[in-house]
Amino acid sequence: MKVLVTGGAGFIGSAVCRYLVKTHGDQVVNVDKLTYAANLASLDSIANAPGYHFVKADICDAEAMQAVFQTYQPDWVMHLAAESHVDRSITGALPFITTNILGTHVLLDAALSYWRGLSPDRAATFRFLHVSTDEVYGSLGETGLFTEDTAYDPRSPYSASKAASDHLASAWGHTYGLPVVISNCSNNYGPYHFPEKLIPLVILNGLEGKALPVYGDGANIRDWLYVDDHARALRLIVERGRPLHTYNVGGRNERSNLEVVHAICDCLDEIGPKLAEGSRRRLITFVKDRPGHDRRYAIDAAKLENELGWRAQETFETGLRRTVQWYLDNPGWWEPLRARYGGQRLGLTQTQAQQQPA
Ligand code: DAU
Repeated sequence: MKVLVTGGAGFIGSAVCRYLVKTHGDQVVNVDKLTYAANLASLDSIANAPGYHFVKADICDAEAMQAVFQTYQPDWVMHLAAESHVDRSITGALPFITTNILGTHVLLDAALSYWRGLSPDRAATFRFLHVSTDEVYGSLGETGLFTEDTAYDPRSPYSASKAASDHLASAWGHTYGLPVVISNCSNNYGPYHFPEKLIPLVILNGLEGKALPVYGDGANIRDWLYVDDHARALRLIVERGRPLHTYNVGGRNERSNLEVVHAICDCLDEIGPKLAEGSRRRLITFVKDRPGHDRRYAIDAAKLENELGWRAQETFETGLRRTVQWYLDNPGWWEPLRARYGGQRLGLTQTQAQQQPA
């Protein structure tokens, strides 16, 4: 199939591009603006594949988006381009509003005018998959899971911007008939993850013997999804998901942040270089909490499992080990990022950074 992927140089987007090209032999046009978290090195393994094309462009640029549709004539769109880091949205929301909301609007409009010009056969199988997050549902108490029917209740500028983009995608489906499908995923982790997010940050700080910042009491819970399991889910959803439906994607791997950090420390101690100080758990440093920090996320993926037959292949233990091993094996990917963006201060709000040990 010919697939237009937006944000394909990001963490999840690059996993999707690699999966489509290597496993399905899809033709992929990857549209990415190449902001700070994007990295073309994540696509080295498919950069010369026949049928893979890269276009550097901003999804907010209407002319550029129309030209991409006309030039590449995609069968499907997988829209992943987004600003995604909650801490950054707290210190500056504008790029989130711009890319996530306005950019999605521009892309939907470009897709709509392209779709209207397709033959009836191609229009019937065209899909616009809008890839979103479980954070739109807000924060859970001690029990319960997010389902596709959970009411939206976003709490951060980031999740509010994603919620807005979900509503736009849904509106373009209902109002104009564009075959839109929406997916909402839990926390992804895996290789090629930009080290501002918890798991890669803790792996790299742990490797370098630096402080491991844990926000608040470390008891917040996330539901971890291995990124390649997510890529498989997205390919299934764009091919077989029902238009105007939402599919939740989650790994059924709830862990508190402290459990995650402990697991990384233990894994690094076991398979990484030994630290003179002993166990890396001693590097754990509790820092001021993220404002409005959502307590617990957990996804009910039953619809995706029952309707499309998807199952996560990695448990948290196997996925984490693979991930740690990948960072150990690939310093050439992350060392330039650490040099450019600087160790443990990445992603922290100013107050949190001030509380960090040097
Ligand atoms: O749930 C899906 C979402 O997961 C995505 O939509 C977001 O784009 C993605 O960034 C992620 O959001 P989180 O805020 O949950 O991810 P993050 O890695 O920033 O933080 C995970 C948890 O770890 C969260 O409870 C905050 C905490 N944390 C994070 C960092 C960076 C720490 O305790 N210390 C840290 O240094």
